[in-house]
Amino acid sequence: MSVFRSEFQYFLKNITGVSKPGKKNMLIWGKRCWFSSPEDMFPVANTLHVVLSNTLESAPKHAHFLRTDFESAVLLASQPPLSDIVETIWVVGGTRVYKDAMMHPWCDLIFLTNVMAAFDCDVFFPEFDKSVFQLQDKFDGVPSEIQEENGIRYKFEVFKKKDGHIEKNHG
Ligand SMILES: NC(=O)c1ccc[n+]([C@@H]2O[C@H](COP(=O)([O-])OP(=O)(O)OC[C@H]3O[C@@H](n4cnc5c(N)ncnc54)[C@H](OP(=O)(O)O)[C@@H]3O)[C@@H](O)[C@H]2O)c1
Repeated sequence: MSVFRSEFQYFLKNITGVSKPGKKNMLIWGKRCWFSSPEDMFPVANTLHVVLSNTLESAPKHAHFLRTDFESAVLLASQPPLSDIVETIWVVGGTRVYKDAMMHPWCDLIFLTNVMAAFDCDVFFPEFDKSVFQLQDKFDGVPSEIQEENGIRYKFEVFKKKDGHIEKNHG
């Protein structure tokens, strides 16, 4: 989860935004990501949570579904009854979940917070092809100016998949 309070608010605004009452967004989480989130952030308005794991036996507290692979999570949202309710699928990480998502034909946007500082890290956002997912100059609802919190600068970036691009694995 974010160390920046305003970045976390931006994350919450994105994941909870729906067009009308009754609609929900689906969040897909890897197991470590799920358990590293502060418990007091739940429940999150307008959201359904799917945790991916091959070792858990049931959905953890506050999560709605457990699935063993990315495609099954997406299928949940695309079939009744949830297909009538789910508006947007947000992929929350970690690394493998992001990789699977970016290979998926339905993935058309990447919302990335570019932290303009160096840290020692052991988990990374995967590399992706920036000629396929292209950085947008401006994106509705996304502040384009550089942010600063606790002396660290960061910027909100949105990458949009080039029209007509189909991943080879799904083509
Ligand atoms: N700041 C941020 O914005 C941000 C974003 C994302 C992640 N993170 C951080 O990154 C860390 C977690 O990332 P991570 O990459 O180490 O772990 P992760 O993806 O959250 O969790 C890994 C586990 O989730 C399950 N899993 C993941 N992908 C799967 C898939 N495609 N299909 C089936 N199961 C899958 C597996 O569980 P089983 O072993 O049970 O099968 C796997 O061992 C946390 O510390 C989190 O806070 C931060």
